[in-house]
Amino acid sequence: MTVTDDARVTTRSRAAEIFNSAVAATAVGAAWELGALDELKKHGKLSATEFARHNDLHERSTVGMFTALASVEIVERRGDDIVIGPHFDEVYDNKSLFHWLTQGSGELFIRMPYVLQNKNRVGDYYRRDAAAISFDCREISERYFDPAFWSAMNGLGYEFTAAADLGSGSGERLIQIAKRYPGVRGLGIDIATPAIDMARDEAAKAGLADRLSFVEGDARAITPRPEFAEIDLLTCFMMGHDFWPKENCVKSLRQIHDAFPKARRFLLGDATRTSGIADTELPIFTLGFELGHAMMDVYLPTLDEWDGVFADGGWRLVKRHLISNLSLSVVFELERL
Ligand SMILES: C[S@@+](CC[C@H](N)C(=O)[O-])C[C@H]1O[C@@H](n2cnc3c(N)ncnc32)[C@H](O)[C@@H]1O
Repeated sequence: MTVTDDARVTTRSRAAEIFNSAVAATAVGAAWELGALDELKKHGKLSATEFARHNDLHERSTVGMFTALASVEIVERRGDDIVIGPHFDEVYDNKSLFHWLTQGSGELFIRMPYVLQNKNRVGDYYRRDAAAISFDCREISERYFDPAFWSAMNGLGYEFTAAADLGSGSGERLIQIAKRYPGVRGLGIDIATPAIDMARDEAAKAGLADRLSFVEGDARAITPRPEFAEIDLLTCFMMGHDFWPKENCVKSLRQIHDAFPKARRFLLGDATRTSGIADTELPIFTLGFELGHAMMDVYLPTLDEWDGVFADGGWRLVKRHLISNLSLSVVFELERL
């Protein structure tokens, strides 16, 4: 081997870093879903082969998954032992975003060349994994939105008896509400059957099946139902962008206003479209969120655009909580006009 050849195999290029990061991003989501990240968080280390054996995983692939994490210093490999690396804590804190990108939305991104062609953009031209998205959104919601959400709940100023959650996903928001407010009933509405199934299972596991129910429905086109009459609190997290563009959003907000006549407060939380951030300075999530929604042809409103729809939709903005560690996210506290 010549000196030049030797240098070529030992110097890691920028392209290699990018390539390995892409593999590692998938491995982060997988290692979380399979329990490895939580075990590493708890004990600081684990044995790769024992982990594979204990969880009935293919051993060579499991070692490969840890190698991918080690390639970007999330963990270090010491023989068979895997120990946490310098980037472990930061990645652990944001693991749900990796899962959203690679497991929940993976098929959308992989099919980018197909999805970008106008001739293909009709009907169901992309697929995402609704169950995986419900799984990662439960943690995204808890980690990024919960502080603002609970602050808004603590400041409601009235005692509510029944809450409806639009785009209820895993059902976790209603489960948490039901646990904190004994006697309160909850109704989840989601467009995706896998999300409804998961939410029903989780509510049953939490012993709350008698107080929580979940139904399929499109929150963009809500029409009155008898069970909506008692709802006095509305929540909707991480799906508000689906109401857009503007004209549709105003109409949906108005329909929600009319279909839930007793709903005094509406807590609406979502990530919004950023502008003016240099391409090389984009923080975690923003790029995947904005490109993913462009590919799905979902319009993402900016904060200012949101401000312009509430009054026409029948709602008054009472308070706005900004969340800066998840792209540019927000929780709006709305009051019935
Ligand atoms: C990103 S997840 C958020 C789940 C949940 N709100 C949370 O905070 O964890 C979005 C959810 O909204 C649901 N969804 C999307 N569009 C919807 C629509 N038009 N009507 C009802 N649900 C919808 C999806 O199926 C998914 O479960």
